Amino acid sequence: MKFFIDTADVKEIRDLSTTGLLDGVTTNPSLIKKSGRKITELIEEICKIVSGPVSAEVAATTFDKMIKEAQVLKKIADNVTIKLPLTWDGLMACKALRDEGIMVNITLCFSASQALLAAKSGANFISPFVGRLDDIGADGMSLISEIKQIYSNYNNLTTEILVASVRHPRHVIEAAKLGADVVTLPPNVIKQLITHPLTDKGLDAFLKDWKETGQEIG
Ligand code: E4P
Repeated sequence: MKFFIDTADVKEIRDLSTTGLLDGVTTNPSLIKKSGRKITELIEEICKIVSGPVSAEVAATTFDKMIKEAQVLKKIADNVTIKLPLTWDGLMACKALRDEGIMVNITLCFSASQALLAAKSGANFISPFVGRLDDIGADGMSLISEIKQIYSNYNNLTTEILVASVRHPRHVIEAAKLGADVVTLPPNVIKQLITHPLTDKGLDAFLKDWKETGQEIG
């Protein structure tokens, strides 16, 4: 399972990249706004830190403009993945960009039928937003299960399921149990993955006992 980080905060990306656990990055217009940075400069900086796919989202809503923006973003670095919304124009742009060999992540997926269309359009990644579905009382993880089942039925559907809008470690574990290809995690969720009070308590006790032995290793 691949771990992407869902942020436009360069410091967080830099810090977490040192763990060796980051396989890619996802950004979106809201995260870019939060960063206060110019998208092209920011994506260029991120691509220098992480060699895996870095998703940069178009702001256009029509096919022609999406393609134009995608070309600007794609020029930034080889690992830029164009993020397109799940609309007819987005799907058509996906097909056109994939024909040119450009990586595409289709975002804002909330149904299995949308995921099927994205796969048929040749998307490299489909991003179902599990947290936002949970927020409206639906079950985000059951969408992942449905998409997984559908994609598994057809060898020619090679789109990777990128679980997005992740809110907590349980989403990560459930996604892994279902065999999702990728999860994109906000920095706080990555940090929560390692936390367990019994680990902290156990380590404190070991360190205390070790000190009392008076020994040193090496
Ligand atoms: C995915 O690529 C999106 O950037 C992200 O996961 C959206 O998450 P949110 O629902 O927390 O905004």
